[in-house]
Amino acid sequence: MSKMSAKKKEPVTIREADEADALEIRNVINSVAAEKYYLVPETSREDWRETIKEIKKRKGIIIVVQVEGKIVGMAYLARGKFEKNKHVASLGITILKSYRRMGIGTAMMNHLLEWSKKQEGLEKITLEVFSTNKPAINLYRKLGFEIEGIRKRQYKIRNEYVDEITMAKFLT
Ligand SMILES: CC(C)(COP(=O)(O)OP(=O)(O)OC[C@H]1O[C@@H](n2cnc3c(N)ncnc32)[C@H](O)[C@@H]1OP(=O)(O)O)[C@@H](O)C(=O)NCCC(=O)NCCS
Repeated sequence: MSKMSAKKKEPVTIREADEADALEIRNVINSVAAEKYYLVPETSREDWRETIKEIKKRKGIIIVVQVEGKIVGMAYLARGKFEKNKHVASLGITILKSYRRMGIGTAMMNHLLEWSKKQEGLEKITLEVFSTNKPAINLYRKLGFEIEGIRKRQYKIRNEYVDEITMAKFLT
């Protein structure tokens, strides 16, 4: 568990998620998905309990950030399912709109990166991001992620084509 102080001066706690957080995680994802610009699905998966269990079973991590007890963001590293890709983890991160630009995203990413360094056999973190999502791309670049590839016109958001950028950071 780690604590940091956001610009709003409210206590911010980052901790590992458990199954009891499933509903609040779903609400956060639904709220960000409704903005339409950042996440691929239109709505969250219904039940996060199985996903939380599955991520942990595969030696990944899922974290939540709480401000005054309320979950305002989540992030995860989900490791590959197979012998051939279990050295790679996929990263996802989502924060409610009114809690962005306060350093919470940086704190969550640093939490995941610190954790990653201690994991045996974990060598690479990958992620996908819309080419239009400058806040996220800036955050990832700042933390040492590099662009691996671009899938052109992979999405249509409000009738505009958007490329998908794949980024990665090697831990070794
Ligand atoms: C991307 C996201 C996690 C960033 O979290 P955050 O808490 O707002 O980020 P921070 O306050 O820690 O900012 C870290 C860096 O990110 C970049 N950044 C964040 N918001 C930005 C913005 N609005 N415009 C440009 N750069 C931005 C900057 O480089 C910033 O560093 P700086 O403050 O020194 O300029 C957050 O915006 C979010 O949840 N967005 C919606 C969901 C999403 O896009 N998830 C990623 C999908 S791939």
